[in-house]
Amino acid sequence: MENFNFYSPTMFVFGKGEENNTGAYVKKFGGTRVLLHFGGGSAVRSGLIDRVKASLDKEGITYVTLSGVQPNPRSGLVYEGIELCRKEGVDFILAVGGGSAIDSAKAIAAGVPYDGDFWDFYDDNPNRPVVEKALPVATVLTIAAAGSEASGDTVITQEKGMFKRGTGSDVLRPKFSIMNPELTMTLPPYQTASGAVDIMVHVLERYFTNTPDVEITDRMCEGILLTMLNEVPKVMENPGDYEARANIMWAGTVAHNNICGVGREQDWASHEIEHELSALYDCAHGAGLAVIFPAWMEYVSQHHDLSRFAQLAVRVLGCQMDFAHPENTVKAGIAALRRFWHSIGMPTSFAELGAKEEDIPAMVENMRIGQRSIGHFLPMTKESCAAIYHLAC
Ligand code: NZQ
Ligand code: ZN
Repeated sequence: MENFNFYSPTMFVFGKGEENNTGAYVKKFGGTRVLLHFGGGSAVRSGLIDRVKASLDKEGITYVTLSGVQPNPRSGLVYEGIELCRKEGVDFILAVGGGSAIDSAKAIAAGVPYDGDFWDFYDDNPNRPVVEKALPVATVLTIAAAGSEASGDTVITQEKGMFKRGTGSDVLRPKFSIMNPELTMTLPPYQTASGAVDIMVHVLERYFTNTPDVEITDRMCEGILLTMLNEVPKVMENPGDYEARANIMWAGTVAHNNICGVGREQDWASHEIEHELSALYDCAHGAGLAVIFPAWMEYVSQHHDLSRFAQLAVRVLGCQMDFAHPENTVKAGIAALRRFWHSIGMPTSFAELGAKEEDIPAMVENMRIGQRSIGHFLPMTKESCAAIYHLAC
């Protein structure tokens, strides 16, 4: 196991009705003037925004609102948010929604105290600045998926060119995250499923490692994946199943607050490869991962460490070990994962996602790989990324 620091200062406030206490937590963490930042309408329709506003009013906390965050959040609204916060003297940002509202909130939080262009933090420049100062951010989570409620990461789509980039800093970790599983019951099945894929892939990006003997995190990863295999079909069948929603919501947090990634090298190639799909086609990030990740497995298992793929197939995906031909076990594991994602309504090919094979060169170009490589388990070149896109067709 490698040496590590694990710093996860977010307070998680989990359970029924907790959104009604949002104002009290904003006060506890020093907020007096809030930017309430949310998406395209689901949180308004469900009455959540009114409940959050009432809880702020109760504590005498004033606020301004900025709605309209799109899935795969855009740079344009971030600029608008930065200006609004400066003009209104905002000292605390509250995101209500999923990864998109939260990531947009983090970008605004980083941009307000920064003299330059907030995009500097996301730029490909190897000498780009690190976010050292930011307004405090907190979240009321409405979808179990990206894990942004627990991470210091943010991913934004640059509208000039439609490509996605991410950045991260401990100062962007939410001060608190309110997590009421009931809030996820209004999700359309496609969004529930897409969130589930994202959660599973956050675990898998950490599971595929070259660091030997990290049994503790291997087993934690396997536990989360087995939980997802068990719980997700329950909510697809019965969206109002509170216990299953609760298990999935907490799985989303522990999948991405990095407790399953410490002490080991992590991969993350599939995320970079997927981000160009969701940037170009505006598809759900999880749906893009359901297409890319099995293709990544097919490609990498032909070149590197078959035993790790076989371990996943046997311990998680219910496959029998074929000792004479372990490659058969691996193939069965990949097929089982695709079958599971298909069974919950996810696409597993370019065709099903509505992506086009002829766009592959543009996506590879947008990754701006240059001399660097992508991912760590098996570092990817431009050519290997293109091969994975083709395998995903
Ligand atoms: O905009 P509204 O109307 O709220 O609708 C949203 C949106 O259309 C809807 N939704 C959310 N909660 C709902 C609901 N509809 C009904 N009932 C509810 N309770 O769901 C749609 C998707 O929302 P979004 O926030 O985009 O989903 P998600 O949490 O999957 O976030 C995806 C974004 O996170 C990034 C992705 O790249 C993508 O841009 N990621 C962020 C990460 C991070 N910050 O650590 C890591 C991830 O790997 C990921 O890259
Ligand atoms: Zn993800």
